Amino acid sequence: MRLDRHLGPSAMREALEADVRAGLTAAPKALPPKWFYDARGSALFDEITRLEDYYPTRCERAVLAEQAGTVAEHTRADTLLELGSGTSEKTRLLLDALRGAGTLRRFVPFDVDESVLTLAGKQVGEEYPDVEVHAVVGDFERHLPLLPTGGRRLVAFLGGTIGNLLPEQRTRFLATLASTLTGDDALLLGTDLVKDPARLIAAYDDPSGVTAEFNKNVLTVINRELDGDADLDSFEHLAVWDAQNEWIEMRLRSLRDQVLHLRALDLRVRLAEGEQVRTEVSAKFRREGVAAELAAAGLSLRQWWTDAGGDFALSLSGRT
Ligand code: AVJ
Repeated sequence: MRLDRHLGPSAMREALEADVRAGLTAAPKALPPKWFYDARGSALFDEITRLEDYYPTRCERAVLAEQAGTVAEHTRADTLLELGSGTSEKTRLLLDALRGAGTLRRFVPFDVDESVLTLAGKQVGEEYPDVEVHAVVGDFERHLPLLPTGGRRLVAFLGGTIGNLLPEQRTRFLATLASTLTGDDALLLGTDLVKDPARLIAAYDDPSGVTAEFNKNVLTVINRELDGDADLDSFEHLAVWDAQNEWIEMRLRSLRDQVLHLRALDLRVRLAEGEQVRTEVSAKFRREGVAAELAAAGLSLRQWWTDAGGDFALSLSGRT
């Protein structure tokens, strides 16, 4: 397995420092969701995907299981490039379909967490001995132009992770991604769909508390990396539906007046009792919105599939 690091430990550290300093000195306070994903955060997210209330993974897997063959036929891709690949669990369905079509040569998993990336890359390499695995550690908001080119590429961005980008970030991300695609390349995008807010909130606030632990993991990351003293018990997990923006927000609410000391930043952050730090937005989509955002980036929506319940969509698009 080849491994490219566009985000080595020091670049990662610099980005974290900048994000935390900016986010915790802003009003209202916010932290970008990418910092959930150290080894423990990736494992907790993996646990979330198996929760009864967390429907997106199951629904997306159902659509993929049904449509992977069609995706393979349409794209005839020789390279599967997966953004935010994580454990690459659902990726097997695409790899099998592309191998079945006889076109698959190369798998390029791309993730911010090197630990999960290396593990997943090695596993795929063993399960698919004829496939060249070229893993890339990076941030999909910064390193898209550095991804391997050539051949017919299928870029998969699954799980609804695009919903974790704010609208302006999303516009920029899609435009940059589109500019790296050639006429033969395709984008397979997973988007969670707007639905009953009660189900959405349940998916982000499970009774077993795994999502709460995942949310608080950003504090563990900050404590470790930035020599911080955040007390996890002095925060509570919140999941809020924003009907205007049609997104779920995860927040950490301070249970008391407190001052966080981040020694590595020489920064003291005061939090009032009840003050909330936004740690994630997870946007929910409609077909027209996805088509419009793709079009604005210079991509045409070619196929749109959902699971039987209409909870989650996969779309296939290409350069206009
Ligand atoms: C990273 C997009 C798959 O937003 O649903 C799960 C992350 N956050 N529970 C999502 C997440 C809280 C997840 N994705």
